[in-house]
Amino acid sequence: MGMPARRCSAAALLTLLALAVGGWVPAVHAAPSTNGAPPVNVSLYAEALCPYCADFITSTLSPLMDKGFGPILQFRYVAYGNAVRGEARLDGTVMCQHGPVECRLNRIINCATHLHPGQDMWLPFVECLEGAPHEQSEAWVDKCAGQTGLDAQALHGCAEGEQGAELEHEAEAETASLTPPHRYVPWVVVNGIPLGQDNAQLWRYVCVAHAGNRPDACYVPPGASLAGQRPERSTA
Ligand SMILES: *[C@@H]1O[C@H](CO)[C@@H](O)[C@H](O)[C@H]1NC(C)=O
Repeated sequence: MGMPARRCSAAALLTLLALAVGGWVPAVHAAPSTNGAPPVNVSLYAEALCPYCADFITSTLSPLMDKGFGPILQFRYVAYGNAVRGEARLDGTVMCQHGPVECRLNRIINCATHLHPGQDMWLPFVECLEGAPHEQSEAWVDKCAGQTGLDAQALHGCAEGEQGAELEHEAEAETASLTPPHRYVPWVVVNGIPLGQDNAQLWRYVCVAHAGNRPDACYVPPGASLAGQRPERSTA
């Protein structure tokens, strides 16, 4: 009589233990903020000197990072934009929308993302650079590198050398292979889907796309801006 009951309670205990362990293990393995869900891919196809590109970085992306979205998104910047490559017989040089300075800065950005992978490393540098007064952007490379802990010499070496040329080709090829093709810059793509004119709403798309723990900022009322008040959940 006592035996089955004890077996029963032992089985119940094991089940409880398994449930407890089962519930506990994923929490240990998952990164706290993503809860094991994959990050949302956000890719920016842009060029260094276009005003709306700089504005996207400073007014849309930076506030989002400030609101704790960093860990749930995988951000990439492909610096090429509306540049075009001349015909091979004319040496195949790339011509950028805002001139040769922009071409050099695009290379600097592609080198920064390549040499310092991990958006925590290169993004502060790019944020600094995009915040520069237009005519001082090139002069700000060293200043921004110094401020954000990047190696300015390595950046220049990369941008002016073979590696810079190779990264430029890669950026060109990736930009050219966009489906649908980009129509303007900045062109923002979230998990493969272009946002078109909705760039400023990037944060809402990320909130919806992410399956893990979302930042509090996702729960602001429709119509509110990310930069607005702390989220309120009252029904008023
Ligand atoms: C995000 O990008 C990674 C690699 O770049 C890819 O493996 C993954 O499938 C992408 N996720 C989505 C949802 O597009």
